[in-house]
Amino acid sequence: MSRFLVALDFPDAETAVRTARRLADLVAGFKVGLELLSGPGPGVVGILAEMGLPVFCDAKLHDIPNTVEAAARQLGRYGARWVSVHALGGVRMLEAAREGLEEGAAGRPAGVLAVTVLTSIDPSDLAAVGLGTSVGKQVGRLARLADRAGCEGVVCPVSELATVSQAAPRLIKVTPGIRPSGGSADDQRLVATPSEAVERGADLLVVGRPVTRAPDPRRALEELVESLVASGGSADPGEGQP
Ligand code: C5P
Repeated sequence: MSRFLVALDFPDAETAVRTARRLADLVAGFKVGLELLSGPGPGVVGILAEMGLPVFCDAKLHDIPNTVEAAARQLGRYGARWVSVHALGGVRMLEAAREGLEEGAAGRPAGVLAVTVLTSIDPSDLAAVGLGTSVGKQVGRLARLADRAGCEGVVCPVSELATVSQAAPRLIKVTPGIRPSGGSADDQRLVATPSEAVERGADLLVVGRPVTRAPDPRRALEELVESLVASGGSADPGEGQP
């Protein structure tokens, strides 16, 4: 069992599915983001789910509850194991997402992952949208909201892991921005190695370009898994997950 969710950020389904097949035995699942959803569309979620691995549909939904419920239901029907939803949409919207997803999943395990504060947002952005608070306080507040709404977890950078653990210990924490030791940060502002992220409380690790853009993606992922094992960190997220 692995902790890694590989972000299949590709413009076409063929490359995404081919890459997924090469990595299937090393991952906890795959993440399908806005690029695939906006290009080939959610059919790719179905193809990946048929491989028997959990698919995190990173749709970042944010609309009125009725619309979010319907969208989450559709993604559940395609086989999504997780769907991301902006916690800023409020508790009723999060509940609607959960209900829609569960209905679409028809008895398969499925859960909502709440996005609290995007890592691209800084304190001045928060103030500009009328939220005169710190990023940490806002993350804690939205994690509690996600907990109340019955979300399964939160997507959060390594810097917010402790805040989420304290605010909502029940939630699983899914952390992007994972890089090998000494690797390029690309455009990520907040990066961590797999062992740093796990030490600070991450359950599942999202990794994209360090694997998918590597000359040998399989080898690159194997090295990340090995680095986690070598550090003494468990490569396994534990019972019942995902
Ligand atoms: O290529 P890289 O490893 O940076 O990919 C990270 C993935 O996680 C991307 O698909 C990106 O959209 C997503 N993500 C992120 N930061 C967040 C939330 C999601 O990088 N705060």
